[in-house]
Amino acid sequence: MIKIDAKGCVPFVSDAQIQDYTQKALVAYDILASEQGAGNDFLGWKHLPSETPEALVDDMLAIREDWKQRGVDLVVAIGIGGSYLGAKCVIEALSHSFGKQLKEKKAAEVVFAGNNLSEEYIAELLDLLKERNAACVVISKSGTTTEPAVAFRIVKQYLEDTYGKAEAAARIVAITDAKKGALKTLSTQEGYRTFVVPDNVGGRFSVLTPVGLLPIALAGFDIKALLAGACKAEKDLAVKAAENPAVQYAALRNLLYTEFGKKVEILVTYNPKLQYLAEWWKQLYGESEGKDGKGIFPASVNNTADLHSMGQFIQEGDRVMFETVVSVEQSQREVLIGTDPQNLDGLNFLAGKHVEHCNKMAQLGTRIAHIDGGVPQMQVSIEKIDEANLGELLYFFEFACGVSAYLLGVNPFNQPGVEAYKKNMFALLDKPGYEEASKAIRERL
Ligand code: PA5
Repeated sequence: MIKIDAKGCVPFVSDAQIQDYTQKALVAYDILASEQGAGNDFLGWKHLPSETPEALVDDMLAIREDWKQRGVDLVVAIGIGGSYLGAKCVIEALSHSFGKQLKEKKAAEVVFAGNNLSEEYIAELLDLLKERNAACVVISKSGTTTEPAVAFRIVKQYLEDTYGKAEAAARIVAITDAKKGALKTLSTQEGYRTFVVPDNVGGRFSVLTPVGLLPIALAGFDIKALLAGACKAEKDLAVKAAENPAVQYAALRNLLYTEFGKKVEILVTYNPKLQYLAEWWKQLYGESEGKDGKGIFPASVNNTADLHSMGQFIQEGDRVMFETVVSVEQSQREVLIGTDPQNLDGLNFLAGKHVEHCNKMAQLGTRIAHIDGGVPQMQVSIEKIDEANLGELLYFFEFACGVSAYLLGVNPFNQPGVEAYKKNMFALLDKPGYEEASKAIRERL
């Protein structure tokens, strides 16, 4: 089970405050559990781990097999926000850090597009496509988001020009709404295989639908184990108790925010593989809580690298933050530090020690230093980085997000603020229907 260690908050908060916020979190827990709160038509994610049919998983694995038979060695996963970050997070966490250089041939390489509007990025993607045997998964719940739509138009054209229309159609899978949206219409017309993003699952909660599962499976990872880990969390967190880690996490972060003005939460990791876990978490918490003039700003650091950049600020800058460390108990690999007869670097005192031992001591030393510097800290622990543990962790953060946002008093499942930039961009791009807005915005430039 996911463990929360709150020792690093003890010097800052009183027992009475913890009890008070635990009670508040239990009330918020009831709102989520009873499915009566704001946004309750978007709670489909809660039962995905236990209710995903085996046939759906098999359909995804069949695509992996089919594309293998076609010789596909590169899959472009097109999507943005919740239609991108979950898959990216899991694939990065599970991949060999140097898999590309080692030319690992485990499965197709999955690269991402449609998450930006950089022309250089798309041009460079086309450079890569020319070198490889490619296929594409296009993901958009709404089926109308500009960034993935632009990337897909270009990749689709490339695939059709290269492989012919019929073979291109066999190399494209769309993941979108069951009935509506431009991508659904196009998929029906072109005969693409499709998977559905359920109506009641929002983008940032969709990693355990085909949105996340298909790219993860195509990259060669075990989506059954990922779902099994999430299923364990679904079961563990379904118990209303002060010891429930989702209740503990929601209580502590809201206590620090409300009573101590800690407006920034930094998710801290100690492994480069977990950088995108933080990106996924930032979207989940940022879009779920940052509204109505409220919310904890989600930030992240990846240590020990960032101890040499952000470490100074966290130690001595404005005291606006607290830290949540995702601690991984075991390293999956072993490397010992050797003895050097000359010892010019003075490191012989580390001879015979695991590199991970140094990492753990850095983690512990940083924890104490930051607490001394006025930064409360809590720790969320998993055993190791594998599919099962990641599934458990992702579900934990989703569930805790629901509890936390209800405690804060916001609807966790909408994102009205995301529309503002889109309206301006469409006006500036002279999209039909935006004539008035185009005139108005140009006057402001
Ligand atoms: O969490 C969300 O709902 C958003 O981040 C969406 O995932 C993102 O905007 C992409 O939307 P769509 O999948 O409709 O293209």
